[in-house]
Amino acid sequence: MDKIQLIIDCDPGVDDALAIILALKHPAIEVLAICSVAGNGHIETTTQNGLKILSLCDREDIPLYQGADTAVSGQRPDTVEAFGDDGLGGYAGSVKTDKRPEKEHAVDFLVRIVKENPKKLTIAAIGPCTNIASAIRKDPTFAGNVKEIVLMGGAKYTGNVSPVAEYNFWADPIAAKEVFKADFSKCVMIGLDVTNKIALDAQCRELLRIFDTRLSRFIYHITKSGMDENWEIRYKMLSPMHDILTIAYLIDEKVVSLKESNIDIVEDGIARGQSVVDIDGHWHGEKCNALYAVDVDVLKFYRLFLTTVFKEHKKEITAYLEQIPGEKER
Ligand code: BDR
Ligand code: CA
Repeated sequence: MDKIQLIIDCDPGVDDALAIILALKHPAIEVLAICSVAGNGHIETTTQNGLKILSLCDREDIPLYQGADTAVSGQRPDTVEAFGDDGLGGYAGSVKTDKRPEKEHAVDFLVRIVKENPKKLTIAAIGPCTNIASAIRKDPTFAGNVKEIVLMGGAKYTGNVSPVAEYNFWADPIAAKEVFKADFSKCVMIGLDVTNKIALDAQCRELLRIFDTRLSRFIYHITKSGMDENWEIRYKMLSPMHDILTIAYLIDEKVVSLKESNIDIVEDGIARGQSVVDIDGHWHGEKCNALYAVDVDVLKFYRLFLTTVFKEHKKEITAYLEQIPGEKER
């Protein structure tokens, strides 16, 4: 089977880091490039973190293109605090690299590479949608020439920066709206409704400590800040893993259940960034513009993630997963 030719547009970020690691480690995916965008930190931070993840995984051969530092409106989005000042839970300093970003801007790269490879490339957009919307604005053929775009963003029933808005869509709501209006041949939205369910719990995090490999130690440390914050706010020992679910879905579609939907984004006001998801045909006559993830198979996800990234621990992973009750309540 041909490998998925993937570009990851991201704002690393703890969960972006996890997504990149899974993509780099799975044989079904060929990561062609990483594009950075501001979000979990300003652009210098997210770019540096992207370079560090590549180095950590011994994949400095993969190019990284630096992208937008402001939303398409020109405003600087508020950065996320959950992952600390360095975006990697205070642990960014543990990885050193001399690798530099490419000279070409991420938006120019996206436009160029998609034009050169019509209908061949997949994009995982796991930060604010600014680079993607800018590419759409720059080249009207861009969306039609992308094979598939999978977005981590939005939610039908919840929010994490407001009662109704998820961070990535909230940070650049105009860009998110333009993405859903752009007529991609396949557009998948993986929102908080499902990504909240795969948050890393204390027991699984402990398993990573026991594995004691370079990658497991890294993931163990960077997920601490998310767990601490969740404990302070909700008394839950869970660390967010949102973005990684986009990659798991690309590897095995059955990890999530999808429903045809029509999605629009609120640009401003009290509901800024809200994704309004119509799965019931309320907007009669409107063509569906996306597939919305309604549910996730948590065990399937964990099996995929753990056995891909920690292959050498397959036996322990199987034993651990057998002890987990069928469905985890998050
Ligand atoms: C999203 O916002 C960022 O903090 C995470 O990396 C993820 O992409 C979750 O709302
Ligand atoms: Ca992200």
